[in-house]
Order: sequence, then structure tokens, then C-alpha cells
Amino acid sequence: MSKASAFLTHADLETVLVSEVAIKRRLKKLGAEISALYGKDEITALAIINGAILFAADLLREIKNPVRLDCIRISSYRNETKSVGRPQILHSFTLDVSNRHVLLVDDILDTGKTLAMVVQSIKKLGPATVRTCVLLEKQGRREVDFEADFVGFKIPDKFAVGYGLDFAERYRNLPCIGVLKPHLQNPPEWA
Ligand code: IMP
Ligand code: MG
Repeated sequence: MSKASAFLTHADLETVLVSEVAIKRRLKKLGAEISALYGKDEITALAIINGAILFAADLLREIKNPVRLDCIRISSYRNETKSVGRPQILHSFTLDVSNRHVLLVDDILDTGKTLAMVVQSIKKLGPATVRTCVLLEKQGRREVDFEADFVGFKIPDKFAVGYGLDFAERYRNLPCIGVLKPHLQNPPEWA
């Protein structure tokens, strides 16, 4: 690998699914789309942590509207790279959402269970609107009927890491999104 291309990937990745440059470019467009849709309205952005931290931080800087930000922590219902059971809200947001325009921001739409559950619980609080924005959408994985309003990239059904997405809490800090080399996908020392 040349010195230049070594900066565009990471030694632990088998493939890069979305490059750093592509993320930056797409976020500018996504921010413009979101700003156009909301007009002059204020947005109450709720980021689902930890996964959406990097995405939300960069996306919100591309949105021109006034924005209030809060976070929601969802219990991980996943075992290694597979989903098991039902997601639950561990720490909820504290901002009021009644009559507000709520924009939920998450890293990836996989089975759809997390966002479907969160949207349902927010709707009970009487928001003016609830929309969802995900950086990634995994194709062919939905287990519940759910579509995000804004999608950054569609990716194949592979376990992705980087730019907020983790494996055993590692790799969130990679500037790009990729698939780990197979021998790194279940190292016993990471348990
Ligand atoms: P869903 O409820 O199945 O849609 O899963 C959503 C959550 O699962 C995301 O917010 C991620 O935290 C996690 N997740 C799903 N697929 C991946 C992946 O490929 N890499 C890392 N985390 C993932
Ligand atoms: Mg996550």
C-alpha cells in the first residue's frame, strides 16, 4: 500500500465502505436538505449515543436552523455483531419536545427496532413533528416496518465500524467507515 492510500484506510479494515471525503461531502448535502425542509423552524435534535456522536456533531454544523441538542442512550441489545432482544431507553433526554420539531439522529438503521421504539415513545409526548436521520442504512435487514426520512449512505449487509460505529467500543474514532478484517471480528481479549 502506498503512503498516500494508507491514510485513506486503517490497518484493521478489510474494506472501506465510505471514505472520509465522501462522508464530508454527503453531510454538506444532507445539512442543506434538512435546512431546506425545516425552513426557519427550530429543530430539537436528539442524538442516539454513543453511535451518533460523531455524525451528529458534524451534521449539526451543516444545518442553518436554530437547533437544540439532547441525547438518548439506548441499551445495547446486541451480542457481538448480531441483534438479540429488544432495545430499551437507558437515559432519556431532558428537553421538552411537546409542540417541537424533533429530529432523531442515529448512526445506522439495521433491523429498525431502535428507531421504531424511540419514535413511538417520542410521539406520546406530543411533538409537532418527528423525523429521523441516519448516516447509514443497511439493506435487506429490516425486521420492523420503518423508513428514515434522511439517509446518508446505503451499505451492504456487513458489520461496519468507524465514524461512531463500534465493535466492542473500539474503532469509533476512525474517520472512515469500513469492515474489519475477519480475524479481528471476535478477538477473545475484547470480551
Ligand atoms: P437496529 O435497532 O437493529 O436498527 O440497530 C441500530 C443500532 O445497532 C445502531 O444504532 C448501532 O448501534 C447498532 N448497529 C447495527 N448495525 C451495526 C453495524 O454494522 N456496526 C456497528 N453497530 C451496528
Ligand atoms: Mg450503537
